[in-house]
Amino acid sequence: MRLVILDTATDVSEWAAKFVRNRILQKKPGPGNYFVLGLPTGGTPMGMYKKLVEFHKKGELSFKYVITFNMDEYVGLPRDHPESYHSYMWENFFKHIDIDPEHANVLDGNAKDLTKECDEFERKIKDAGGVDLFVGGIGPDGHIAFNEPGSSLKSRTRVKSLAKETIVANARFFDNDINKVPKMALTVGVDTVMDAHEVMILITGVAKAYALRHSIEEGVNHMFTVSAFQLHPRTIFVTDEDATMELKVRTVKYFKGLMDVHNKLVEQPEDPTAPPSAKRLKSPVNGK
Ligand code: GLP
Repeated sequence: MRLVILDTATDVSEWAAKFVRNRILQKKPGPGNYFVLGLPTGGTPMGMYKKLVEFHKKGELSFKYVITFNMDEYVGLPRDHPESYHSYMWENFFKHIDIDPEHANVLDGNAKDLTKECDEFERKIKDAGGVDLFVGGIGPDGHIAFNEPGSSLKSRTRVKSLAKETIVANARFFDNDINKVPKMALTVGVDTVMDAHEVMILITGVAKAYALRHSIEEGVNHMFTVSAFQLHPRTIFVTDEDATMELKVRTVKYFKGLMDVHNKLVEQPEDPTAPPSAKRLKSPVNGK
């Protein structure tokens, strides 16, 4: 596991966006060679999307050969409701980039047959060749996507009833009225995300500190479903200082000592085929 500790939530957004950019560029996507990206919603990844849009607008990054799969969607909320995850993704990301809308997969929480919708989603991921990089966030109870405490760590995409804590946490998007928050959702399973080649989890804020401690310093436990990623060979947790508040000093010190290594992952890659204007001059001092 890698644990990247940055000063602020803004730094987390920037680091995450650069990581996504580099992974896409490294694959050199093109016809028949798509980059498959799993995506989350929520307040945490908002800054990452903003930054990715910036990279796209500057001509550094294209999503033409990227296929995306979103983690989850509410059940029964109209697709055009401002708080549906469809709306979130289109408003914050898809409408600003050059992705083929056919390649932006978001579960349909209004499908007639929800189980079939979930099975189809799994099939589409398989047909795309699996996910190269799944980006996720967590709830204050350590859930990933909508895999609430007690979810099977072997779970696949399915219908899920939301925990009270999640409904309360998400009420801020629904006029702070818990009665307006949908009570059910479609979500990828823990095992669906585990199948990804690489996983990056973004965790910011002191409200997630307790969950982070349980997820990385305690054992694998279905009451903190993100802890399952201790068993994934390529997981990166990206956090701000506030989220590390409950970690042991030795954990924080160890991982902070690795920051030089981790920061290499987000250096701007040199692209020999890019025009000179798209290349970034490297500082001889710190290489950043
Ligand atoms: C919801 C979503 C999760 C997300 C979590 C955290 O529960 N289903 O995928 O990670 O919210 O959201 P936020 O980043 O707003 O704290």
